Amino acid sequence: MLLRRFATASTSLPPTIRQLLSSLPPAGQAIEVQLNGWIKSVRRQKNVTFAVINDGSCASGLQAVLKPDATPHKLTNGASVRICGNLVQSMGRGQSYELQVEAVDILGECNPEAYPIQKQALPVEFLRDNAHLRARTDINAAMLRLRDSVLRMLHSYYEAQDFHYVHTPILTSNDCEGGGETFRVSPASSALPSKQSPDPSAQAEFFSQPAYLTVSSQLHLEALAASLSRVYTLSPCFRAEHSQTNRHLAEFWMLEAEWAFINHVGDICDVVEESLKHVLQCRSEQALLWKDGDEAKLKSLEDASRPGIPWTRISYTDAVNELQNYHASSRVGFEFEPAWGKALQSEHERWVSERLIGGPVFVTDYPTSLKPFYMRANDDGQTVACFDLLVPSIGELVGGSLREERSSHLVEAIRRHGLKEEEYGWYVDLRKYGSAPHGGYGLGFERLISWMSGIENVRECIAMPRWAKRMLL
Ligand code: 4AD
Repeated sequence: MLLRRFATASTSLPPTIRQLLSSLPPAGQAIEVQLNGWIKSVRRQKNVTFAVINDGSCASGLQAVLKPDATPHKLTNGASVRICGNLVQSMGRGQSYELQVEAVDILGECNPEAYPIQKQALPVEFLRDNAHLRARTDINAAMLRLRDSVLRMLHSYYEAQDFHYVHTPILTSNDCEGGGETFRVSPASSALPSKQSPDPSAQAEFFSQPAYLTVSSQLHLEALAASLSRVYTLSPCFRAEHSQTNRHLAEFWMLEAEWAFINHVGDICDVVEESLKHVLQCRSEQALLWKDGDEAKLKSLEDASRPGIPWTRISYTDAVNELQNYHASSRVGFEFEPAWGKALQSEHERWVSERLIGGPVFVTDYPTSLKPFYMRANDDGQTVACFDLLVPSIGELVGGSLREERSSHLVEAIRRHGLKEEEYGWYVDLRKYGSAPHGGYGLGFERLISWMSGIENVRECIAMPRWAKRMLL
């Protein structure tokens, strides 16, 4: 048998299993390799031991075949190993290639009796309690790889549209959404002044004014879009909301894009739809993540990704009419009665997307009173030029709008919302010097991963979830 050494593009790093599996030797040839990874399972037989090794680079592990006398006693589930051997075509069923082991080093032992990550499916709550170990489960690792692939596809979409990837601050002086859900930040060494009676001495504040963790990068992105025209970022966002739903986190990642020289909210919807259809082509990890998933949900996801079929757009007013008709005519109805001027509840959002439309839907032009100060007023004087994208199983996935670029309208909206004008001086300034019509949107990254993976709770769509009363690690 011909034997050759595996060569990677890198001179310093040994190959990962994914790299190996993507350049397999032709039949009858073997490749000499050195592999690092963790043992996923061990099966000891009289004349041979089979062990599956995985390094997290892809869903599939590699079967290692060892002679019983060369199998260390400490080769157990969870142990980390370095294996040298030959990658050859497998005669056995279940895998086309296997690693015939020449030498194995146990780098880190793992007591199989005590190791919490067992092979069988583990309850979600148990894994949340063991957040430091749950990336070692197949599903969680697949979700992490999906996040990586989706992000790369988003980058490729924006790059192709000539957007610049920029970095916005995490520490900020403003509450962009005006929802009062900000986390206050101060040095651990200083006593925290209460919000009701802030310490009058500026010295008490590290930044000479109160500082918060960002709830959205939008306002800062607007400043950058006023120079670079098209910008986007992926940033952690923090919201001190007490919602214990399967779509809310206290720390989550938001993909936000902002660009200048647009006049219609429909143009923003076009970009959202185009970018998401691009990303939905990603089939990475689908086989594993949807293995036991709901087929109807998967089909609906695949239907949404079809390029030729545009996603529906409906105004808030029309959506409320439909909701009211259903509420009046159906025996079940909704828990919350729908009415013009009231926020759409989660049950309404899901009904519109799942039952009325049967797919993703942009709901546009909400009443001014329901939305933040920065959204551009429509000519009707009652609504703003905005949209929420609702998708099946999730509800709201994206929110966006045209921004109020008219200085006088913006100042008036700041006052109407009871915000302090002096805190938004810089933001109003952007409208004084070369103001351009502009807009953008924010997409909840964990909600996107939930939609694409079929994982129902966003707490399982991020490595280390944080929500009210709960922050392990
Ligand atoms: O609708 P939101 O609040 O919009 C904004 O923050 C805008 N400033 C964005 C912009 O226009 N640049 O949030 C945008 C998206 C939501 O549609 C939702 O998907 C996600 O962020 N989101 C959350 N995801 C997880 N946990 C939470 N607590 C979330 N709050 C919002």
